[in-house]
Amino acid sequence: MAKVIEESLDFATKQSLLMAESLKDQPDRLPQTIDEEGNLVTCNSAWWVSGFFPGVLWYLCENNPTDSLKYWATNYTKRVEDQQFTTDNHDVGFMIFCSFGNAYRLTGNQKYKEVIHNAAKSLITRFNPTIGCIRSWDYASWSAQWQYPVIIDNMMNLELLEWSAKAFNDTTFSHVARTHANTTMKNHFRNDFSSFHVVSYDTITGTVEKKNTAQGYSDDSAWARGQGWGLYGYTMMFRETGNKTYLERAKHIADFIINHPNLPEDKIPYWDFNAPDIPDALRDASAGAIMCSALIELSAYVPELKSKEYLVVAETQLRSLSAAPYITDSGNNVNFILKHSVGHMPNGSEIDVPLSYADYYYVEALIRMKNLLETNEQK
Ligand code: GLY
Repeated sequence: MAKVIEESLDFATKQSLLMAESLKDQPDRLPQTIDEEGNLVTCNSAWWVSGFFPGVLWYLCENNPTDSLKYWATNYTKRVEDQQFTTDNHDVGFMIFCSFGNAYRLTGNQKYKEVIHNAAKSLITRFNPTIGCIRSWDYASWSAQWQYPVIIDNMMNLELLEWSAKAFNDTTFSHVARTHANTTMKNHFRNDFSSFHVVSYDTITGTVEKKNTAQGYSDDSAWARGQGWGLYGYTMMFRETGNKTYLERAKHIADFIINHPNLPEDKIPYWDFNAPDIPDALRDASAGAIMCSALIELSAYVPELKSKEYLVVAETQLRSLSAAPYITDSGNNVNFILKHSVGHMPNGSEIDVPLSYADYYYVEALIRMKNLLETNEQK
């Protein structure tokens, strides 16, 4: 495993430096995916994935702090700075914490800390105390069917708030994060601990109005990335709060995933656990990477037998992602690291492509596994 990790981190570094160079003359663009002709698709800072590539560079810099990685990590982080004041969607957590959060963690630069503070203040403007949740999406023609949509993905944005509560000694942030996590725990999950993608609330009574999907196969299906967001989100909430209810939820989600009859042998899920064309359905490497990273963390919070069970799956995922058909060849894939993710199947967009967040959680998982192996060696 250690060899796989070293080689994969080296490869990820080479690809990411090529990617960084490829956009050096477009100082407000960030990598998103690939188009049908095989060209790089970029986004501006306002698209929800903008913080992932800077985050990849920071993780690689943590692993091997070269001048070029530091230069590009700093450069790409700056590209998302304006999003600290974004209040029109919940993704400010992804955008700012993956970029500036890692930047501050590794450099201690106070300017980065201020940006994180502003982002946390922006995010809590979207909290409705009657509902007990942060609103995910604003009103738009495509979201008009929902009064107050909250998606399971939103669990990921709570890390920004928990971190800010500690860093700025302000429980307003943790109150919002914990209330959101508790409301989501109550309403987003089915009896088998799979989760709905979208739960919408009545803005007057605060009660659940609808349970649907936007990116999954059907309202009742288990959209793979959503299961990954839930697993990662509750594992992180246990880390941040010590609240065992979150740990129990994370374990239930993990058990749903790893015992699911439709989880393939290589442990990289189909894009939806209930996709009708399984076993011919497409895989989602991004979901596999998110689950892998979360399982590595969760393995540290559970008794030995369970820990081993989670690590066996995480290790299989990491080995799978680090080999064909998921990892690309040098200089290919317009310099992304992984292939074969699914962005939005019902929309027909970003299907079987590289995605910057697949790369982010994959590199995070590599670093987490590397740290775990080193800690075990020292014992
Ligand atoms: N947060 C959007 C997605 O997972 O596609």
